[in-house]
Amino acid sequence: MHAHNIPVALALHGGCGVMAEHEMSTREWQEARDALQAALTAGWRILQHQGSALDAVQAAVVVLEDSIYFNAGYGAALNADGEHELDASIMDGTTLAAGAVCAARHIRNPILAARYLLEGGDAVLLTGAGADAYAQQQRLACVENQYFTTPRRIEALSKMREHQAAGTFKTARESEKHGTVGAVALDSLGHLAAATSTGGYTNKPVGRIGDSPIIGAGTYARDGVCAVSGTGQGELFIRHVFAHDIAARILYGNETLEHAAQHLIMGTFHEQGIGAGAVAIDGQGNVSAPFNTLGMFRGWVNADGTGVVASHQQEFPFVLPSLV
Ligand code: GLY
Repeated sequence: MHAHNIPVALALHGGCGVMAEHEMSTREWQEARDALQAALTAGWRILQHQGSALDAVQAAVVVLEDSIYFNAGYGAALNADGEHELDASIMDGTTLAAGAVCAARHIRNPILAARYLLEGGDAVLLTGAGADAYAQQQRLACVENQYFTTPRRIEALSKMREHQAAGTFKTARESEKHGTVGAVALDSLGHLAAATSTGGYTNKPVGRIGDSPIIGAGTYARDGVCAVSGTGQGELFIRHVFAHDIAARILYGNETLEHAAQHLIMGTFHEQGIGAGAVAIDGQGNVSAPFNTLGMFRGWVNADGTGVVASHQQEFPFVLPSLV
């Protein structure tokens, strides 16, 4: 069934800043899981039809960007000016080609602009007005900045401003601060790809760029090694060159994917009280999805082809559509 007998694999996350279970209704949790399921299904369909890992991670991230429940695209976090500045990146593990946008204000699906940049093979990272203009040139859907705003994000901004006034930012819960979406995939030709998209964190300074659009920090893919997408406080991910650190541990240190992916999240970050999570896949199709917070929106496909989505500890299996 699979070319060269390579198992295809797919995993995604919707951020490690999930709320406590009582803070959303049963219906809302269900809708968030449905969106994770739809994202997994979109990516899986592509992989099942011998499509590329790049197309699969892009398709999964577009679904998550369009969902109100995740901090990327529609429903993204508001910055200190009450506006949205969006970051995204995508990387091809075969060629190490990459594309990224940061502080974009008008691109409805920032991951699509990142993909165009990857294919263009020229600039890797465009910022702000340049990124928005590029998306327009490529005829990608562009929107007013308010398109991304939701009542939940307005409330989160006002709470975060209260924290700031009271000097209690550090005590704010991860769910009040962060959120990101991302996907990693291994395709039937053995190629790896990773994609990440985010609105950053609530009340972030205008112009602040996180790890998500920084290749090696929030996103990394290299065939035969791993594909990684991170979620958490971006500054730490940049300083530790998080995603590349995982690849280096595997490539130079011969660590297993699980060991490498857990290292910073369950070690240094956890010890420093830094909420963090990631999804990662290696060249054999092993999947790792560590997090050190209350929960992480996540999903993956098991070796037997069953899908799984989760927000907290409990995992929800589901049946993926079969071929054709
Ligand atoms: N990890 C997302 C951010 O810090 O912007």
